[in-house]
Amino acid sequence: METLFIGQEKISFENLDSTNAYLKQLCSEKVQVEGLTITAEYQTLGRGQIGNTWDSPKGQNLLFSVLLRPNFLSPDRQFYLNMSVCLALNDTLNQFCSGFQIKWPNDILFDGKKVAGILIENSISKNKIENSIIGIGINVNQKDFGAEYGRTSLSKLLGNSVDRGFLLQRICEKLEPRYLRLKSGSQGLFADYYSSLYGYKQEVEAQINGRVIVCSIVGVEPNGRLITEIKGKKKKFNFKEIKFLFPKSL
Ligand code: BTN
Repeated sequence: METLFIGQEKISFENLDSTNAYLKQLCSEKVQVEGLTITAEYQTLGRGQIGNTWDSPKGQNLLFSVLLRPNFLSPDRQFYLNMSVCLALNDTLNQFCSGFQIKWPNDILFDGKKVAGILIENSISKNKIENSIIGIGINVNQKDFGAEYGRTSLSKLLGNSVDRGFLLQRICEKLEPRYLRLKSGSQGLFADYYSSLYGYKQEVEAQINGRVIVCSIVGVEPNGRLITEIKGKKKKFNFKEIKFLFPKSL
């Protein structure tokens, strides 16, 4: 399947500081075409969420950023784009093998282990989202994660390596209709997100302020805040205020 614009123009690099940073730089120089995609075999300064780094060995994984221009979304609905991107990625990975889930707010897991991370960086002007840089890192063919228990890769799950260009194309094909659907409204978005969300209406363990508790997710606010139920009471959390715990047996 062809896409209309996402991934139609691609610039690929062997080495880059960060595909997100590079795309941001391009956008600051001149207006870029929506859907422009930057890929890198290796990033020297890969960025993760909340100031973390994203390290990935050269030539094994998929590291890319896509430019979108969701000026139809008000900044207080930025999270709708996160949900759409998560769903596109989760749906794509589930085509390879079923069992992938979204961990709020926007990680993709398999059996409690992280396979993909998303970093969306928006620039806002006149109360509109101007440019949105969708940065995605997927563990594709990496086999060795050292002592790190909480990560795995698509190839480890499948038992064979995966063509990264093929995977990128499949993601673009899922991302574009999700994005166009969002453009025409948010019908079904929350329901789709919940149906792929780890811990939704299920009791799971989490850590809050160092204390381990059992909670279940009952929803997400339009601004992205997580709504949980703990011992029958509703409690809301911002990103990083709650950490889900995964049993090692998973
Ligand atoms: C996370 O912390 O889970 C988000 C990780 C996002 C990593 C990707 S790799 C491609 C793009 N460029 C970056 O510098 N970061 C994102």
